Amino acid sequence: MSLTAELQRTITHIATAGKGILAADESSATVTKRFGALNIPCTEDTRRRWRDLLITTPNISQFIAGVILYDETLHQNALDNTPFPQKLTQLGILPGIKVDLGLVNLPNTKEEQVTQGLDKLGERLAAYYEKGARFAKWRAVYTVSDILPTPLAIKANAGMLAHYAALCQQNGIVPIVEPEVLLEGSHSLEQCAIASENVLHALFHALHRHKVVLEHIILKPAMVISGKSASPRANVEAVARATVTILRRTVPAAVSTINFLSGGQTPEEATAHLNAMHTLGVALPWNLSYSYARALQDDAMKTWLGKTENVAAAQKAFYRRAKLNSLAATGKYTAAMETEGSVA
Ligand code: 13P
Repeated sequence: MSLTAELQRTITHIATAGKGILAADESSATVTKRFGALNIPCTEDTRRRWRDLLITTPNISQFIAGVILYDETLHQNALDNTPFPQKLTQLGILPGIKVDLGLVNLPNTKEEQVTQGLDKLGERLAAYYEKGARFAKWRAVYTVSDILPTPLAIKANAGMLAHYAALCQQNGIVPIVEPEVLLEGSHSLEQCAIASENVLHALFHALHRHKVVLEHIILKPAMVISGKSASPRANVEAVARATVTILRRTVPAAVSTINFLSGGQTPEEATAHLNAMHTLGVALPWNLSYSYARALQDDAMKTWLGKTENVAAAQKAFYRRAKLNSLAATGKYTAAMETEGSVA
């Protein structure tokens, strides 16, 4: 198969209406935090059991088209001893891999950050392809305040995201391009909208300069939302409207799928916001779906608590949340479904 045909096959699978991505690529340090909050011990084995629980949830491929893995998981076996990438492929789910190496401060800014990992990335991508990965992820972050993000941070991150995306496509891997405008802070919806528009505008210029094929990327942005400690917070309809407005201004229709991160929203908020974008009556030229970590995993992790006897109940919770998001990704979710017994 040609490189182009392979990238197209991957993007067609991911962009299926009503399906999304599970981000299960938390670094071991981040899993330690998430497990620690629930007193679950964090070891290589418990991380493996947690990822196995999610991936082997019966019929989850109805709602999940791809799973982003962390390097450790890509090299581990599922509990039935099948390597995780093969396990996913058998289930009709594409394996993806987080390839960035985390954040460092950007000199001459007020502690804004850039993302590391471009050195030898081509070689790493070729090795990940051999292991079965068909898409990758690189996350850049932007803080919002009265003076942030600065043009310097916006431009530096745009260039790195675009360079990474070009390297991915050269290696037969579809890049998830993730510019995360952070939820932390007390900024207003309007401030977030301005920051998001500037970030996306610069990003698509950089993707053009680096000759990235827009048809073969997945855009993973944050929603346009008021800061976590803003008072008052913007309501669901305002978030949906602002997000769709900014995306329509900045993201060409050649991009086939946009899959949001949840960024610290509650599972219910992340589902409601996504659904509302589909019910505004505004034309959406792209598939608009999810690539959540916390908003897909939280309910299930609280049920599991690291105990084998809770695995079936936790899988049920994960299935339910994935199904609600699948409904939201086609505008068929209602808040009443959060309490109804009808969605199991
Ligand atoms: P959250 O959905 O928890 O924000 O995580 C998504 C992700 O992949 C962040 O990089």
